[in-house]
Amino acid sequence: MPTQAAETLRRTGGRPVKSIIFDAETIDRRVTELGAQITAAYPEGDLLVLGLLKGSFIFLSDLVRRVERPLQVDFIVASSYGHGTVSSGAVKLLYDPETELAGKHIVLVEDIVDSGNTLRRLLVLLAGRHPKSIAICALLDKVEKHEPFAELRFVGFEAPPAFLVGYGLDHAEDYRHLPFIADLM
Ligand code: IMP
Ligand code: MG
Repeated sequence: MPTQAAETLRRTGGRPVKSIIFDAETIDRRVTELGAQITAAYPEGDLLVLGLLKGSFIFLSDLVRRVERPLQVDFIVASSYGHGTVSSGAVKLLYDPETELAGKHIVLVEDIVDSGNTLRRLLVLLAGRHPKSIAICALLDKVEKHEPFAELRFVGFEAPPAFLVGYGLDHAEDYRHLPFIADLM
C-alpha cells in the first residue's frame, strides 16, 4: 500500500503539498449535508444551479447528485475588468448561461470566497435577469477576508488563511484534480 504522501507526489509530479486540510471523506460528508440543506431550502419552484467555472466543477458535480429535487445545471465564466492582480471595476461574462434565469431560484456555486468581489458584482449582474431568488453556495469561505453578505447562504467550510488547492481549486491551473484540499505552501 502506498502511503498518502507517496500517492500525492504521484498526482503532483513530485511537488509536495504542505498539508492536507480537508480529506476526501470529510469533503464528501459535508457536501452531502449541503445537498440536504439545498433540498430543504427549495420546497418548490424551478431551481437552477449555476457553477462558476472553473473552480467549482468538481464541487458542483458532487453537490447536485446530493440534491433530491428537480434542478437544472448551467455554468458561468466571469472575468474581472481592470489590470493587475487586484480585481477592480465591473465583471464581464466570458460565457453567459443559455438557460433562462427569470423566475427561477438560482444557486450560484463557487469554490472559495476570498474578497467576495467577483461574487458581489456577479450578483448585481444576475439580479438584472430577474430570477426569483439568488443564493450562493461556496465550498470554502475565507470569512475574515470580506464583510458578511446575505446571499452567502450555504458554506461548506471556513477556510484557513492559506493558499488552498485541490478538489477544483488550482494554482496556475495545476492541482485541480486532487481528491482532497491541501495547503500548498
Ligand atoms: P474573490 O473575488 O476575491 O472572492 O476571489 C475568489 C476567487 O479567487 C476564487 O474563485 C478562486 O478562483 C481564487 N482564490 C481565492 N483564494 C484561493 C485559494 O486559496 N486557492 C485557490 N484559489 C483561490
Ligand atoms: Mg474561482
